[in-house]
Amino acid sequence: MSNETILVIGSCGQLGTELVESLRGIYGDNNVIASDLKASDNPVFEAGPFEVMDILDKAKFEEVVKKYKPTQVYHLAALLSATAEKMPEFAWKLNMDGLFHVLDAARDMGIIKKVYWPSSIAAFGPNTPRINTPQFGAMDPTTVYGISKLAGELYVQYYFNRWGVDTRSLRYPGLIGYKSAPGGGTTDYAVSIYHDALTTRKHHCFLNPGTVLPMLYMPDALKATLDIMHAPAENIKIRSSYNLAGMSFGPEEITAAIQKYVPGFSTEYQADYRQAIADSWPAVIDDSRARQDWGWKPDFDLDKMTVDMLENLKKQYPQNSM
Ligand code: NAD
Ligand code: SER
Repeated sequence: MSNETILVIGSCGQLGTELVESLRGIYGDNNVIASDLKASDNPVFEAGPFEVMDILDKAKFEEVVKKYKPTQVYHLAALLSATAEKMPEFAWKLNMDGLFHVLDAARDMGIIKKVYWPSSIAAFGPNTPRINTPQFGAMDPTTVYGISKLAGELYVQYYFNRWGVDTRSLRYPGLIGYKSAPGGGTTDYAVSIYHDALTTRKHHCFLNPGTVLPMLYMPDALKATLDIMHAPAENIKIRSSYNLAGMSFGPEEITAAIQKYVPGFSTEYQADYRQAIADSWPAVIDDSRARQDWGWKPDFDLDKMTVDMLENLKKQYPQNSM
């Protein structure tokens, strides 16, 4: 693995902040180039190279590829579901043009050997079975984010089939972690609820009770991402994107899980436009193909994640913690 050079695009977001740290642990600080629209003051990024780069600026991106010669690209820059609904035209441009710049460079420049690009549960829609959502079946996303993810899935598969670009992809559920803030998704409440539990003791939820969604704890998301990228090419039998599951719960269930450790914590419900987005998504995902093909198995359920989240967040809020 030491001969690899990795470029991470959109490094400073919820996933990238943690992924850069993990990748540097594996490949070495100087072999992982972080990049984002602007420099970050997060000390995580001080350990290795950082490039200020807008993925929509194709010339700059190609310059960065020529400079560092990355053998792998993790392309994470996107507008997520809730933000994308506020600026749908720009979301389509960023989510699709950014992906094309990466795929075209992998096809044409002879430098990038492998591309990771995440899809989402948002690629599904109201006609997809919500329980045990299958790997293959009806996909009719209702958001511009979901439409861009479904189109992206088909394009990463197309570049693999047509030009042999080694593309790998996961349909992430909502990601939950304590090291970085989420960037404008419909599942973001499941991160802020832990911060509220340790500060105000009250969470104002933008989804209704009973809104069950698939979620994944960040250590499991990192494990899945690295595992699919490290798996032998012949094990990657799905080149669109793999279903991936960790746990499923509604806001009242995560509230109850937190109350076990933070007595007096409560949630008030006031659904907004994100409720309709959540209602169009699956509740429980069937990830058996990821399990079969490259050995996926999550480590965290709701209770185990809650213990870990609270333990770690208490260090951020020592004055308020119990
Ligand atoms: P995020 O919003 O937290 O981070 C995205 C990063 O991309 C930000 O740091 C942003 O500055 C950067 N960015 C935006 N426009 C850019 C541009 N033009 N050029 C370069 N960088 C740019 O998102 P995230 O949660 O880290 O998600 C990463 C990827 O994973 C996305 O593709 C997202 O769709 C996918 N995903 C995330 C989740 C989740 O719950 N977080 C779930 C499913 C899929
Ligand atoms: N967590 C993401 C979102 O809510 C799902 O892709 O947008």
